[in-house]
Amino acid sequence: MDFFSKDTKSAIEAKGIAQWIAFGPVVFQVSRVLRNSGILRSIEENPAEGLTQDEIIEKVKLPEYGVRVLLESGLGIGLVILNDGRYKLTKTGHFVLNDPLARTNMDFVHDICYKGLFDLDKSIETGKPVGLKEFGNWNTIYEGVNQLPAQIQKTWFTFEHFFSDIAFPKVIPLVYQNGIKKILDIGGNTGNWAIASANWSKDIQITIADLPGQLQEAKQRIDQIGLADRISVFPINVLDEHSKLPKGFDAIWMSQFLDCFSENEIVSILEKCREAMDEKTYVLILEAFWDTQRFEAAAFCLQQTSIYFTALANGNGQMYHSEVFLNCVRRAGFEIVERTDQIGLSHTLLKCKKIK
Ligand SMILES: C[S@@+](CC[C@H](N)C(=O)[O-])C[C@H]1O[C@@H](n2cnc3c(N)ncnc32)[C@H](O)[C@@H]1O
Repeated sequence: MDFFSKDTKSAIEAKGIAQWIAFGPVVFQVSRVLRNSGILRSIEENPAEGLTQDEIIEKVKLPEYGVRVLLESGLGIGLVILNDGRYKLTKTGHFVLNDPLARTNMDFVHDICYKGLFDLDKSIETGKPVGLKEFGNWNTIYEGVNQLPAQIQKTWFTFEHFFSDIAFPKVIPLVYQNGIKKILDIGGNTGNWAIASANWSKDIQITIADLPGQLQEAKQRIDQIGLADRISVFPINVLDEHSKLPKGFDAIWMSQFLDCFSENEIVSILEKCREAMDEKTYVLILEAFWDTQRFEAAAFCLQQTSIYFTALANGNGQMYHSEVFLNCVRRAGFEIVERTDQIGLSHTLLKCKKIK
């Protein structure tokens, strides 16, 4: 990866980008409102001749002043172009409107992060998710997810599942190829991995370990689809120093889980895994590392997602650089026996065994 080692911008470009940053929140909110108000969609539906401002007003039924300022701002942002009084959508406008990744990220930043980011400086100083007070008085967002307002909760789960849902079908054959039948899924959330695994093979038994609040929804889903005989749940707070993981599994699976924690916490969770393992047990870790991405935009998304952990989630998690993360794995007494990069959109699968 050679994305971040050179300053390639001219002074003029750099000064322009500095203004983009200064107006970043404006750019974000205008783009979101242009998307949600139907303005971008109405322009997209008239690709050949475009639309005049009056035609757009007629279609979206919003006041002339509001539509005008949005469209003029959208020109500067590069979402639309204007020729002979007619607006057309740009490629950027197309992706803001239609790209599932851009939509998921935009909704997540607005619904979950936007207000809390105002206090980022305090989070940096204290190592606490100070922005979380926008939602409730919890130490981490995970304690409160099941109490979030319905729309906010939906956005949180959509974001959480977006990346893993793409990776899971690709990673399932890799995980279950070597006779793994009994698996402990730590941070199993609403049960997506467990259900995908149970559907993959009738021989697989899964136990989901997660915070009690998260497990309620997983349990309900599993009962509803009749998989309770093969998927069980194990309530645990892995940060509680007295908590112990259950034993007797072929593998311990952690997908997008360890990024929720600081380096020291990762080491202590992996040490808990060690205690629950024997010589044959594997630890399987699915993570997205910003330095292993094919595309700069993917690295960018992960680097910015880290700030959600800082300001909102728990104050000390992040989407890690692979070397920092691998160092935690080694510190906990594991060796990496297999590594597969670039699974799905952005993931790496680490297969680890404990060093004797
Ligand atoms: C980012 S989600 C991962 C979801 C899922 N594994 C996936 O790949 O889509 C992190 C999960 O870790 C759980 N979690 C966070 N802190 C925890 C803790 N201290 N003890 C147990 N589970 C925790 C959360 O409840 C959440 O379900």
